[in-house]
Amino acid sequence: MIRKAVIPAAGFGTRFLPFTKSVPKEMIPLVDKPVIQYVVEEAVAAGITDILIVVSSGKMAIQEHFNPDPGLLARLEDNGRSALADELRAIDRMARLHFVYQQELKGLGDAVLQARGFVGDEPFAVLLGDTVTTSEVSPVIGQLCAVSRQKGASVVALEEVPWEKTSRYGVIDGTAVAESVYKVKTFIEKPSPDEAPSNLAIAARYVFTPEIFGFLENTIPGKGGEIQLTDAMREMVRTIPMYGCRFDGRRHDIGDKLEFIKATVEFSLKRPEFRDNVGVWLKDLSTRLED
Ligand code: UTP
Repeated sequence: MIRKAVIPAAGFGTRFLPFTKSVPKEMIPLVDKPVIQYVVEEAVAAGITDILIVVSSGKMAIQEHFNPDPGLLARLEDNGRSALADELRAIDRMARLHFVYQQELKGLGDAVLQARGFVGDEPFAVLLGDTVTTSEVSPVIGQLCAVSRQKGASVVALEEVPWEKTSRYGVIDGTAVAESVYKVKTFIEKPSPDEAPSNLAIAARYVFTPEIFGFLENTIPGKGGEIQLTDAMREMVRTIPMYGCRFDGRRHDIGDKLEFIKATVEFSLKRPEFRDNVGVWLKDLSTRLED
């Protein structure tokens, strides 16, 4: 059973400026919940009980969001808004949350390295704090945990991307070993479509065995002085088997403005109180766009 998860949430969020000048991108809301809450909920739904969120200075709002606020709860109860108070209490009880500071923003690999003491000697999940996933079947990180348990190995989430866009992603070279499961030969960062061995892109969710820390420690900083997680994974897979799981579901990288806009509309259509109104408005809007 995988009990621990790490959520890197320390990054700059340059793609979402100017909003991210003073607010962490992990606090961007989809309808009325910040991205980081969806991510924590995904981990909890997969049975994870202990979550370490990696933060940096200027990210206090993330801690604040998960801090119990007895004054607010009392006020809501007094005003007859118990249902909302219960919803907030549920956030406080979701999991044991821990926080660690990434002192210098030296990349995703370095952020994961901050979790070494927390993780100890067991497999653990990594969920990027700016990316929400949805699935009709089961939580995406739970799908990876199941493959990891079966194989006793590290597993990365894979998403099929259009071939002409492989140069935006890290993709795998691998062989299918079961329905939606691939044994990874290597990881290739941003290949051009004619060089790409597959269109299976690494997609914001991982399960690692603790050996990853040794490889992260030995990873030489790459572009912009950042320690790339993919570089450590590429070294690791040379000697230790790793798998990819083409998960059932979708991911939404909310750190990207266009994906944020699309996700906001899609998530509002899933909410019974907004579905009809948003649907009518969308139809009206598309008619106006055609004119
Ligand atoms: P991104 O690759 O989106 O980088 O990080 P970023 O710096 O946050 O954002 P942009 O590209 O400048 O807009 C993916 C995840 O890894 C975390 C981020 O917070 C995000 O959740 N991260 C990234 C860290 O925790 N530390 C880092 O040094 C870099």
